[in-house]
Amino acid sequence: MDTSTRVHKMMRALLGIVLLVGMLNTRQVQGRKARKLNYFEYNAMNCRAHTACITQFGGVGDGTTSNTKAFQAAVAHLSQFESDGGSLLFVPAGKWLTGSFNLTSHFTLFLDTDAVLLASQVMEEWPLIDALPSYGRGRDTAGGRYASLIFGSNLTDVIITGNNGSINGQGEMWWQKFHKGELKYTRPYLIEMMYSDTLQISNLTLIDSPSWNIHPVYSSNILIQSITISAPVNSPNTDGINPDSCTNTRIEDCYIVSGDDCVAVKSGWDEYGISFGMPTKQLVIRRLTCISPTSAVIALGSEMSGGIQDVRAEDIVAINSESGVRIKTGPGRGGYVKDIYVKGFTMHTMKWAFWMTGNYGSHPDDKYDPNALPMINNINYRDMVADNVSMSARLEGISGDPFTGICISNVSISLNAKPKKVQWTCTDVAGISSQVTPRTCDLLADKGAEYATECQFPTDILPIDDVEIKTCSYYKRYI
Ligand SMILES: *[C@@H]1O[C@H](CO)[C@@H](O)[C@H](O)[C@H]1NC(C)=O
Ligand SMILES: *[C@@H]1O[C@H](CO)[C@@H](O)[C@H](O)[C@H]1NC(C)=O
Ligand SMILES: *[C@@H]1O[C@H](CO)[C@@H](O)[C@H](O)[C@H]1NC(C)=O
Ligand SMILES: *[C@@H]1O[C@H](CO)[C@@H](O)[C@H](O)[C@H]1NC(C)=O
Ligand SMILES: *[C@@H]1O[C@H](CO)[C@@H](O)[C@H](O)[C@H]1NC(C)=O
Ligand SMILES: *[C@@H]1O[C@H](CO)[C@@H](O)[C@H](O)[C@H]1NC(C)=O
Repeated sequence: MDTSTRVHKMMRALLGIVLLVGMLNTRQVQGRKARKLNYFEYNAMNCRAHTACITQFGGVGDGTTSNTKAFQAAVAHLSQFESDGGSLLFVPAGKWLTGSFNLTSHFTLFLDTDAVLLASQVMEEWPLIDALPSYGRGRDTAGGRYASLIFGSNLTDVIITGNNGSINGQGEMWWQKFHKGELKYTRPYLIEMMYSDTLQISNLTLIDSPSWNIHPVYSSNILIQSITISAPVNSPNTDGINPDSCTNTRIEDCYIVSGDDCVAVKSGWDEYGISFGMPTKQLVIRRLTCISPTSAVIALGSEMSGGIQDVRAEDIVAINSESGVRIKTGPGRGGYVKDIYVKGFTMHTMKWAFWMTGNYGSHPDDKYDPNALPMINNINYRDMVADNVSMSARLEGISGDPFTGICISNVSISLNAKPKKVQWTCTDVAGISSQVTPRTCDLLADKGAEYATECQFPTDILPIDDVEIKTCSYYKRYI
């Protein structure tokens, strides 16, 4: 080999190495780019040590393959990490058809952007569970009920969140069965957590639930944030968020359009709720926007037999809704609704700005005690503005059992083109008012301007407001 050939060969070898190194470099850069793209942060009460993706369990996001078994297998597998740093199940973009599945403790279900959990329409995908003990029967039918799409019982530290992924209940089938009287059991909810502690449900969109959307029951320390809920305004019982016999709950930054109450606070039904005896207390609702043409923005009851105490609602916007805050109860319910505080409420287009009902019927059976009378006391409403209203207030207590301690101050209501002649009707209620237009009824006599800030709003902080939110990160290895 002469020198020039040797040099040539060396040059070629060098060039090869340079090219190879270059290629490796590009790959590294691409890798880094991919890692950057596949890496994101999210906020949660707890981060998790172990992660998995639904595709690792045979999940197929094509909208037609059933993923019920994949979800069940994934949760069963991840439940082994309950006491080892917890786990996260990642659901990527796609349409993930599924029936009901259970969650586990120290667990996060994460629905990425454009991930849709699509509720199965196959009845066999919905196992039956017992009626709630505080209700004695299902809400739609006597007897049992279908387990919710996402269900959990006796759990600790459960997070359902995402980059605004969604859960579509495909409720139409259920609404039709309900209207035709074809249901054998009570319709499922989208999310129900029972007997559980430390729950976070956030950054999700919930669409067309068969019935209620979010139902924490017999649970405590619950954070519900940045949830969008939508269902047709004529769909039956598609309540937004229903804290039921729960302690220390915070609902904030939610937008709800539905066919029933946007938030309905509950605690069991007549004799069953009375004997179960578990109230809903320490509830904060903030920055809620609600559209509910046939129901309330916030309902207290009608199932309130375990009691409702210490509810604080502020910065609420109602659009085209039947009523603002509504107390719903009646003889047979027992229990109480007390220490209710509402301030900063803007209402556009309402049938009633204020509504209290003491003759709500609807009993689980004929074994209820008509002498079990509810106690309604210390109800405070202040700093409200409403426009395009038909009737300012319809306040109906119970004869021989008046609703007392009602305080309404600094409220300005303007009426629609054809308002009711009598703007305030009050029976069996007692309390005061100040700076309210139109003029209130005699039972809530105006005390004058010096009482304008009379209606209380607590200044202390509930434990759920002190909960620490961590920044967690996730790297998508599987998509
Ligand atoms: C979730 O919602 C909160 C509050 O609106 C917001 O700060 C956050 O960026 C959202 N996304 C995630 C992934 O946490
Ligand atoms: C889900 O949990 C309920 C209540 O604990 C239980 O009855 C049911 O069998 C569980 N379902 C599955 C599929 O594990
Ligand atoms: C769940 O908790 C409730 C209330 O503490 C208890 O009665 C029930 O037996 C528990 N269920 C299971 C399956 O552990
Ligand atoms: C989440 O998605 C819904 C519907 O897709 C949208 O209306 C809503 O504005 C989104 N929320 C956020 C915080 O991006
Ligand atoms: C009355 O309510 C409005 C909001 O509707 C509020 O801006 C104002 O500060 C309140 N006035 C008093 C005296 O609290
Ligand atoms: C006022 O309310 C009526 C229904 O009572 C509605 O038809 C109308 O559009 C509303 N007007 C405005 C300005 O919102």
